[in-house]
Amino acid sequence: MTLVQIAADTDPDDIRLHTTDPERIAAELALRGVLFDRWPATPITAEISTDEILGYYGERIGELDADERYRHIDVARIHPDDTDPQWPDRARAAREKFLSEHRHGEDEVRFFVSGRGCFYLHLEPEVVAVVCEAGDLVSVPAGTRHWFDMGARPDFVAIRFFEEADGWVGDFTGDRIAEKFPSLDQLAS
Ligand SMILES: [Fe+2]
Repeated sequence: MTLVQIAADTDPDDIRLHTTDPERIAAELALRGVLFDRWPATPITAEISTDEILGYYGERIGELDADERYRHIDVARIHPDDTDPQWPDRARAAREKFLSEHRHGEDEVRFFVSGRGCFYLHLEPEVVAVVCEAGDLVSVPAGTRHWFDMGARPDFVAIRFFEEADGWVGDFTGDRIAEKFPSLDQLAS
């Protein structure tokens, strides 16, 4: 379930808001300059192609990209594969990539087609954790310190919107704040 938990950035136990109410989530994020939207979820199969996903959401994507700022729109997907001996290493590597605080030169825009992941926005003096599920669109504003947890068993399909081909590159702050906050698996359990 989509949820937002807001805590003091100096104390993860000082929880100021915990809500699963979609309207409240959108309002609280809008207050902080963060776009959050819900698009109709579609049941997808593991075999669905990238083109089918982009086609299904074509109208919504067109509205979001009305000014054609997103020159690269793709689909990222990761699913557990217990038949693959490399899977645990691949899962760990994928998870760790953006698990430390960083920022980007452009907005980080993601739509979750399936599965889930958690964005943690470090908006002083708060950390705003947003657990996204299927149907959630979130945009982390350019320059915002944040990190992303896909959990110990990553499983999601997400549409990504980039203005530049290297828009995903992270500028890591070196702050180890992420280690102090509850993980996706803790928040979503
Ligand atoms: Fe990021």
